[in-house]
Amino acid sequence: MDRIYLDNSATTRVDKRVADAVYEYMTEKFGNPSSAHSYGQEAKYALDDAREKVAKVIGASVGEIFFTSGGTEADNWALRGIADQYLDHGKPVHVITTEFEHSAVYEMCKYYTKLYPELFSATFLKPNAKGAVTAEMVSKAVCENTKLVSVMHVNNEIGVINDIGSIGKPCRDKGIIFHTDAVQSFTKVPIDVKSMNIDILSASSHKIYGPKGVGMLYLRKKVALLPNQFGGHQESNMRTGTENLPGIVGFAKAAEISYTDMNEEIPRITGLRNRLYELISAGVDGIIVNSDLENGYGGILNITFPGIEGEALLLSLDLEGIAVSTGSACSTGHVTPSRVLTSIGLTAEQAQSSIRLSVGRFNTLEEIEFAAQKVVENVKRLREMMN
Ligand SMILES: Cc1ncc(COP(=O)(O)O)c(C=O)c1O
Repeated sequence: MDRIYLDNSATTRVDKRVADAVYEYMTEKFGNPSSAHSYGQEAKYALDDAREKVAKVIGASVGEIFFTSGGTEADNWALRGIADQYLDHGKPVHVITTEFEHSAVYEMCKYYTKLYPELFSATFLKPNAKGAVTAEMVSKAVCENTKLVSVMHVNNEIGVINDIGSIGKPCRDKGIIFHTDAVQSFTKVPIDVKSMNIDILSASSHKIYGPKGVGMLYLRKKVALLPNQFGGHQESNMRTGTENLPGIVGFAKAAEISYTDMNEEIPRITGLRNRLYELISAGVDGIIVNSDLENGYGGILNITFPGIEGEALLLSLDLEGIAVSTGSACSTGHVTPSRVLTSIGLTAEQAQSSIRLSVGRFNTLEEIEFAAQKVVENVKRLREMMN
């Protein structure tokens, strides 16, 4: 069997239909959307069309979509673009976010706390037993200076789905801007920015079988945000610079495919993830499941295997051609346990004994069953070595 890729939350293989569209806009239709000639017009038409497609899948209008270089840029921009409006005038800003947020939000908040010790503060909400935060928790943390709430939709490590709709409502009522990092949920879980009271949303192309280095920020029409880049006139002066048109066309194509197939993909992927769980739990004793198998996103299975190192299991599986991940950050030989797993109550040791298996569009039942068997074999072997 060829290699098996079970790390679809890290990135995905570009769909052939998307790659074809990208290629067309790199070779034949390579014009600059700002050029007045026919090449430029052709490119401008494609840019407008891409914006329309991406807007449609979240119930937004075209003027509310700004293309970026990915999820990280959109997350950083959301925070900076709101906070700087106050900080630049010496006014205090309080942000409510979570302990399990992606680093693109979490580290940005930490950075601003250091940069503006007198003016900027952030509350990092601790999740409940299911790994989620609720509207009630958010409401309790609101103070006089709260300008922004940033809560991710689907968590990238454990797949928990936060009830974004219910969190958005009190924010809107209180006039606080609500941002959600929807990088893991965009076109995989239904999103409607209007009924969910979302003011700003981040999404990324490479998580949905599109190219890397492209994503977007949705900004509700009435919300003021500072521009992210200065220069020309592109993206309504909000994020200037010549657009990554092949990437944007690919992103839009990927979003269109994923959105169209969403109702069939959710049960298929959930079924594969459940089969993976069923086989692993039948073959290995004492596992802890960190994903909410009933209500979480169906593509993510995070498991703790007490007694072994997650990194050791990852490497053993890699030798067998199976790609999984751990949430641990490894730098200069020192492994830091996953912040997400410790936030839901795991000890550092348990967090380091965990792996994430993430299922995607191209996985088959045969792959899942083979991978489960290899997980079981390798956990048993590693546990024997530890005894
Ligand atoms: C939840 C979440 N937010 C943000 C990002 C960053 O997106 P990008 O890789 O497009 O910068 C990721 C990617 O891992 C993610 O999973």
